[in-house]
Amino acid sequence: MSTPPSSTVESLAKVVPIIASSELQEGMSHLFTFIKDDERYEAFVIRFGNKIRAYLNLCPHAGEPIAEKNQSAFNSDKRYLLCREHFALFDPDTGKCVSGPCPIADLHKISIVQQEDMICLVLS
Ligand code: FES
Repeated sequence: MSTPPSSTVESLAKVVPIIASSELQEGMSHLFTFIKDDERYEAFVIRFGNKIRAYLNLCPHAGEPIAEKNQSAFNSDKRYLLCREHFALFDPDTGKCVSGPCPIADLHKISIVQQEDMICLVLS
């Protein structure tokens, strides 16, 4: 059996709009849910330093959510993402734990892409 060309594989990816880029201001987070392989996931997208990242809303320490509805995923000075359960801090750029009870565990990064003014989830 031959392997399909990579462009065919890429064309199978599904792009799902999350939020308008203009609505996601610096230091903001936005919760969203998606379905993949019949499983429901909660995730959040953030903007900081003009970068946009998205992570599963699941702390690697004990599985508590990082972002809550109507509450930012960032800590008070907006330099880190904060798990309010046991106060782990994560680098918003990489999702790497920088402080707290999960030093060898990172947030799970989600693939996103910007299409015109929309930030979109990429499901493959
Ligand atoms: S559940 Fe996040 S630090 Fe414990």
